[in-house]
Amino acid sequence: VAAALVADLAAFRDRHRLDRVVVVNVSSTEPVPDPHPAHARLEALSVALCEPGTVLPPSSLYAYAALRAGCPYVDFTPSTGARLPALAELAQAQRLPYAGHDGKTGETLVKSVLAPMFAMRNLAVRSWSGINLLGGGDGASLAEPGANAAKSVSKQRVLGETLGYVPEGTTSIEYVADIGDFKTAWDLVTFSGFLGTGMRLEFTWHGCDSALAAPLVLDLARITAAAHRAGRTGPLTELAFFFKDPLGDVDHALSAQWEALRRFVTGLE
Ligand SMILES: NC(=O)c1ccc[n+]([C@@H]2O[C@H](COP(=O)([O-])OP(=O)(O)OC[C@H]3O[C@@H](n4cnc5c(N)ncnc54)[C@H](O)[C@@H]3O)[C@@H](O)[C@H]2O)c1
Repeated sequence: VAAALVADLAAFRDRHRLDRVVVVNVSSTEPVPDPHPAHARLEALSVALCEPGTVLPPSSLYAYAALRAGCPYVDFTPSTGARLPALAELAQAQRLPYAGHDGKTGETLVKSVLAPMFAMRNLAVRSWSGINLLGGGDGASLAEPGANAAKSVSKQRVLGETLGYVPEGTTSIEYVADIGDFKTAWDLVTFSGFLGTGMRLEFTWHGCDSALAAPLVLDLARITAAAHRAGRTGPLTELAFFFKDPLGDVDHALSAQWEALRRFVTGLE
C-alpha cells in the first residue's frame, strides 16, 4: 500500500510538473493505535512493512508514503500521523519538514486567547468545562469512542500549558446530525479573584467548520512549501499557531504563537 501511495504522489508531481508537493492529512480522526515495536526505529519499520499484518494506522502510512516520496507532511487531525520516532527519523533522512497536530479552529482557539488572560491577571481558574455539539462527517466519526478520546486529549492540552496547572473539568464532544457543518461550543469557566471572590465566565461559539479550516489548510500548504524550499527539515514548531496539539515544547498562548509565526514567515522570504 505504501509503495502504491508513493507512486501516486510521484505521478501527481510529474503530471503537473510541480517542484514540490505538500501532503496534508484531513481524513477522519483515528483512535490511538496499539504500540508496535517497529514504531521506534526506521529500519525496523521498513522490515515490518514488508511482512503480513498491520503495522501503521492509515494516517501514519500516508505520512510514511509522503516522506518516502520526498513530500513534506502536515497533520490537520489529532491522528498519529508522523508522530512516531521511526517517521521522525525518516523525515530527517529525507531532509523534509513536517507539521501538526489538529487544526485549531474553534473552542481551543478561544481558549488559547482567554487562558493567558486569566494567568496574566493572576485569576485562579478553578474549573473549565466545555461541551461541543457538532454534525457533519467529523461529528459522526467523533461519536466513536476511540476517535472521541483522541480529540478530547488534544483539546484539553492548552489549559495546562498556559495556566501552569490543570483546572477541574472536561471537554466533551457530542454528535448532532441536524447542525451539519456548523459547530456549537459552550464553555463554563469558574475562577477566583481578590480575597478568593468566586466568579464565572461563559462563552458560546457558533462556527462553520469548513469555513474556519479551509484557509488554515491553504496557509499550511503554502508556508510548509516555503519552508521546504528554504531547506528547513524536521518538525516545524513555529507553526504552533495553527494547531491544538502542536509539535515541540512551545508556547500555547495564541499571541506568542502569532509572533513566532510572523518571525518564521519573515525569515523565509
Ligand atoms: N474545523 C475543522 O473542520 C477541523 C478542525 C480541526 C481538525 N479537523 C480534523 O480534520 C479531519 C477532517 O474533518 P472533516 O470535518 O473534513 O471530516 P469529514 O468526515 O467531513 O471528512 C473526512 C474524510 O476523510 C475520509 N477518510 C476517512 N478515512 C480515510 C482514509 N484512511 N484515507 C483517506 N480518506 C479517509 C472520509 O471518507 C471523509 O471523506 C478530522 O480529523 C477533524 O477532526 C477539522
